[in-house]
Amino acid sequence: MSQGQRPGRSAPPAHVAIIMDGNGRWAQMRGLPRQEGHRRGLEALRGAVRHAGDLGIRILTLYSFSTENWRRPAAEVSFLLSLLRRFVEKDLSELHAAGVRVRIIGSRDDLAADLRRLVEHAETVTRDNTRMTLVVAFNYGARDEIVRAARRIAMDVAAGLIEAAAVDEAMLASHLDTADLPDPELVIRTSGETRISNFLLWQAAYAEFVFSPVLWPDFDRAALEDAIAEYGRRERRFGGLSETADRSVGAA
Ligand code: FPP
Repeated sequence: MSQGQRPGRSAPPAHVAIIMDGNGRWAQMRGLPRQEGHRRGLEALRGAVRHAGDLGIRILTLYSFSTENWRRPAAEVSFLLSLLRRFVEKDLSELHAAGVRVRIIGSRDDLAADLRRLVEHAETVTRDNTRMTLVVAFNYGARDEIVRAARRIAMDVAAGLIEAAAVDEAMLASHLDTADLPDPELVIRTSGETRISNFLLWQAAYAEFVFSPVLWPDFDRAALEDAIAEYGRRERRFGGLSETADRSVGAA
């Protein structure tokens, strides 16, 4: 059966991760400052959490600020930091009431102490919620995450707590920020860009990628449904063969 004929899955992916891109272009197209694009991006983020919950997605991971984003002008960086603060302060009670568990991944070392405390508070308050998990990747870079994990393992080896030979994929995964989360089945990037940009490099090893042309502030429920429908038409093989493949050696 060709891909075009595949009937598609009915169940949505359990874990969807999104690279939210295009805030700046959205603003520029309207003659607005970039900050307005980010402000509208936060509105879209709120919508995405609601729609994902409605569509039965269990885990939603959103790339909100990368380790590379510090290179942006200081005013834009501080605006993005203020948006995270605003989001946690204003939305926490609503998220908690809706049964959303909040997790923040990324390095906390560069965050101000009060923002760190705020983030920890949000995680503690919502820790036992089970309806959905919202993972906000903030000051996140996958290479940085892997380096931090490797460093912790190296320290345990140096301290004689573990044998170097015991280091395997499961151990490395258990030292990542996402330790207790399953890998995403679907990674979406908006705005027509087709890069992974240092996002979930380890966890997305077998993910399907969907690149949406929609700029993030315009990414609505229909756009999310389109991406999920596209995922449903894909065949995931994890390096094996499809169920309908001719398994004889030399088969085309
Ligand atoms: C990419 O668009 C977007 C970001 C770097 C920031 C994403 C932030 C939000 C969606 C809102 C903030 C939410 C929180 C919780 C902090 P871009 O600026 O690179 O767009 P461009 O490529 O069009 O310039």
